Amino acid sequence: MVKEITAQDLNTENFISEKVEDIQSVVKDGMAINALSGGVDSSTVTMLGHRALGDRLKTVFIENGLMRKGEADKVVDLFKRLGVKVDVIDAKNEFLSALKGVTDPEEKREAITQTFYKDIFGRLVKESGAKHLLQGTILTDIDETVAGIKRQHNVFEQLGIDPQAAFGYQIIEPLIQLRKDGVRLVGAAQGLPEEAFDRIPFPGPALAARVIGAITPERIETVRKATSVVERLLKDTGAFQYMAILHKDRVTGMRDGLRDFGQQIEVRCWDSVDARVATPTPLSYEILEELASEIIREVPGIVSVTYNIAPKPPSTIEAV
Ligand code: XMP
Repeated sequence: MVKEITAQDLNTENFISEKVEDIQSVVKDGMAINALSGGVDSSTVTMLGHRALGDRLKTVFIENGLMRKGEADKVVDLFKRLGVKVDVIDAKNEFLSALKGVTDPEEKREAITQTFYKDIFGRLVKESGAKHLLQGTILTDIDETVAGIKRQHNVFEQLGIDPQAAFGYQIIEPLIQLRKDGVRLVGAAQGLPEEAFDRIPFPGPALAARVIGAITPERIETVRKATSVVERLLKDTGAFQYMAILHKDRVTGMRDGLRDFGQQIEVRCWDSVDARVATPTPLSYEILEELASEIIREVPGIVSVTYNIAPKPPSTIEAV
């Protein structure tokens, strides 16, 4: 059982020094690697890891072809300013082929997990001589996985999977006692700029968690474009998280006087403290109209835009 540290009980300075010591005592004089996606959790763990290990931590950004527009450059630039070198690993084809023909949500998550952990990290660990992977798993990831709601891409031990035996390395998870609100405090205390610690959460399976049905480069590009619109228009709402989801079903629409059997985007925008429960943000009708017209204008092939008004539970935050 992991013992929770709530944001209220968290003493960031003590937490940071304790975790830095833990990392040092596990890795000793060896090497470790960590994958940075640019999200709050992996950004925070990257700072902790560098404080503990310096150049003995190799930080990589996995370009899986499922990330938001411009994400790789944004992350590399930000961490360069913070004095952390990030190597970009091109793994687009590996993820695409692992996801080819996969439509079931849990199979999708499993394909992504295996590609990350077995294929890519397995190879990077071998090449670098590292024995440890440092990652930003948080308590909410574990809760839902153990409850069998969603297999979060980064949870193993709690499912009885030994990473050493399955993938050939050990995993260190310094943030495992925290939830998102606590992670933000630790990130801020380590000098992450607000643009990094106050970002909306973004899931490990990336845009694949937001495409219902088959993943293809075209469908990812569609949801990527819609995501840019949604993030631009909702950034000042103060909401916990907001996203675009591409549906599988097509609906009859019309364009230039002709029938267009087009695609549907669902917009979600959540109020939440720690992602365990969430309610849809009561957006104004004006914003909803603006979302519809911008998505239709900027995303080819979309003929329907909807807003999810069901809370979690029974909804979940992501659609897959
Ligand atoms: P759900 O969709 O389960 O999401 O209500 C709860 C929070 O977790 C994020 N999420 C994930 N994060 N790996 C992650 O690292 C995953 O597989 C994953 N699935 C969902 C989601 O964005 C939300 O903040």
